[in-house]
Amino acid sequence: MTRPTILGTGSYLPKRILTNRDLEKMVDTSDEWITTRTGIKSRRIATKGEETSRIAAAAGKDALKMAGLTPDEIDLIIVGTMTPEMAMPSCACFVQQELGAVNAFALDVNAACSGFVYGLDTADKYLRCKPDMKALIIGTENLSARVNWKDRDTCVLFGDGAGACVLATSDNNDSGILASRLFSDGRLSDLLMLDSAPSMNPDLNFQTKNNNKTEIGSEQGPYIRMKGKDVFKFAVRAMSGAVSELLATVDMTVADIDLLIPHQANIRILKGLADRLNIPFEKIFINLNKYGNTSAASVPIALDEANREGRLKKGDLLVLCAMGGGFTWGTTIIRW
Ligand code: COA
Repeated sequence: MTRPTILGTGSYLPKRILTNRDLEKMVDTSDEWITTRTGIKSRRIATKGEETSRIAAAAGKDALKMAGLTPDEIDLIIVGTMTPEMAMPSCACFVQQELGAVNAFALDVNAACSGFVYGLDTADKYLRCKPDMKALIIGTENLSARVNWKDRDTCVLFGDGAGACVLATSDNNDSGILASRLFSDGRLSDLLMLDSAPSMNPDLNFQTKNNNKTEIGSEQGPYIRMKGKDVFKFAVRAMSGAVSELLATVDMTVADIDLLIPHQANIRILKGLADRLNIPFEKIFINLNKYGNTSAASVPIALDEANREGRLKKGDLLVLCAMGGGFTWGTTIIRW
C-alpha cells in the first residue's frame, strides 16, 4: 500500500531572542517562576521582515530543499496559523506568491496550536484521493504581536516561528502516515481565546452580547486570553487519550513509539502526558525551553529539529500530537 510520506522538513526561527531575564524587566515575573512553571527559558520575537507569511515561506523553502522539489511541483499548500498578517488574502496565498508555487492551490487552517496536525491530516486525505499530488504543510505564528505584554499570565508563554514539511505519496510500502485523527469541542471555546477585529458591523445594530453565551471581545485589546489551569488539565487528558486510542486502531501500543513529538506548550503538560501514557520521558522531543509555545508552528519546528539532529531513523515509529484553542486536538502516527 502506498502512503503519504514526509519527504522533507524545514523551519525558520526569528533572530531576536527574548529571555526570561528580559521579561523580568517588563512584567512582575522571574526566571525562576517561568522555568519551574513552564520549562521555558527564552522565545523568539519576529521583527520587521519576519511577518507570518514570510517566515512560513522561509520554512517552506527549507522543506522543499530537503525534499529535492521545486515550488512549481507543489499542488497544495496548507498553512496552519491563528496570526495571519491579514484576514484576506490568506497566509497560504502569500506563501504561494513568495515561493512562486504557481501550480498549487492554497488555504489556511485555523485550529490554533493544532493547526499543523490539522493541516497534515487534511493533506493526507487529499493525497489518498489523488496519489500524484504533492503538498506543503506549514505551521506559522507571530504570537508576539497578539499577546498582552502587560499580562504576566500569558506573555511569558508564547513565541514566534514557523515549521514545514513536504508530503508526497511514496512507493515504499513501509513508510508514511499510518493513521491520523482530529477532534474539536467548541463547548470549551471560552477557555482559550484570541480576539480579532470585530466581524459585526456596528451600524447594523446586531445584538452582540447575550447573557447565556460567551462574551466575545476583550476590554483590554485583541490579545490571547486563557484559563491556564483548565487548559493544562484538558491538554494532558486530550493528547494522551488521542494517542493511545489511535495507536489501538493500528494494533500498536505506546511501547512501539520511538519518538513522540507533542505540541510544545509547557514542560509540566509534557510530564503529565508522559505519566498518563507511561512512556519514558527521553522518548518525548522537547525544545520549548528555547522557543516557548509557538502554537501551530511548535510541532513542525520540533519535527524539523528532530529530523536534522538525526533523532529519526528509517523505520522509526513517530507520533505527533497537539492541542489548542477551540478546543482542537489531534494526533498522527508515522512510520519514518
Ligand atoms: N510570573 C510570576 N507569577 C505569576 C506569573 C508569572 N509570569 N503568572 C502567574 N503568576 C502568579 C499568579 O498570579 C498566581 O499568583 P497568586 O497565587 O498570588 O494568585 C500564581 O502565580 C500561581 O498562578 P497559577 O495560575 O496557579 O499558576 P499555575 O501553576 O497554574 O501555572 C500556567 C500557570 C499558565 C503556567 C499553567 O496554568 C499552564 O501552563 N497552563 C497551560 C497554558 C498553556 O499551555 N496554554 C496553551 C495551550 S495550547
